[in-house]
Amino acid sequence: MATANHERDPHPAEAKSALRRVILARRDALDPGLRTHHSRAALDRMRRLPSFREAPVVLAYASFGSELDTRALLDDVLGGGRALVLPRVDRQARRLVLHEVRDLAADLLPGTWGIPEPAPARCRRVAPDEVEFVLVPGVAFDPDGGRVGYGAGFYDRLLGEWPAPLPPLVAAAFELQIVPAVPVLPADHRVDVVVTESRTYAKRRLEPTEDS
Ligand SMILES: Nc1ncnc2c1ncn2[C@@H]1O[C@H](COP(=O)(O)OP(=O)(O)O)[C@@H](O)[C@H]1O
Ligand SMILES: [Mg+2]
Repeated sequence: MATANHERDPHPAEAKSALRRVILARRDALDPGLRTHHSRAALDRMRRLPSFREAPVVLAYASFGSELDTRALLDDVLGGGRALVLPRVDRQARRLVLHEVRDLAADLLPGTWGIPEPAPARCRRVAPDEVEFVLVPGVAFDPDGGRVGYGAGFYDRLLGEWPAPLPPLVAAAFELQIVPAVPVLPADHRVDVVVTESRTYAKRRLEPTEDS
């Protein structure tokens, strides 16, 4: 189980690593049928968020491994005639760059860690200030939007360089990824909302959540 914040936890980096191991093992053990079912339920909740419904430009990600399956959401955005933006890892710069994807079958290549990424030759670069909604990936979350990612800090860096104001930051995860309080360091960005198969956790501003 997660420990609280760094005031109570003298070694937050180690606490994050331990939490990643526990949650990833839990997530890897989820029955594939349940993964499909829970992914659908969480994405249904996501579709009810006005911030998602109203955003003309959505930054999302293609899921990999035992992650919640985001495919239906990507199809939704494109099917609704909205702009879909996906990240690509610039390994040299150790940062994410953003590209618009119009065709999921033709525009993606296997990228870092095998995660499908936009082919830079086919997909125009997108500046962060064009994006109006961000689906943030992660390993563990808490009800206040605290987030632990995979350990490379890519999203913290991206969001740290983002010109103000930040768009709504929303995560979709399985309930088994929610812990009471994740270790949070100053560079860590919280998300505004986490949707799971059974709840909507809202941190601030944004969303009316009749069911949270
Ligand atoms: N805004 C930032 N600028 C530069 N480095 C950062 C930034 N945010 C995080 N990092 C670095 O990235 C590494 C991983 O961060 P961490 O928060 O543990 O990963 P994750 O968010 O993927 O769980 C840390 O060494 C951290 O110092
Ligand atoms: Mg972080």
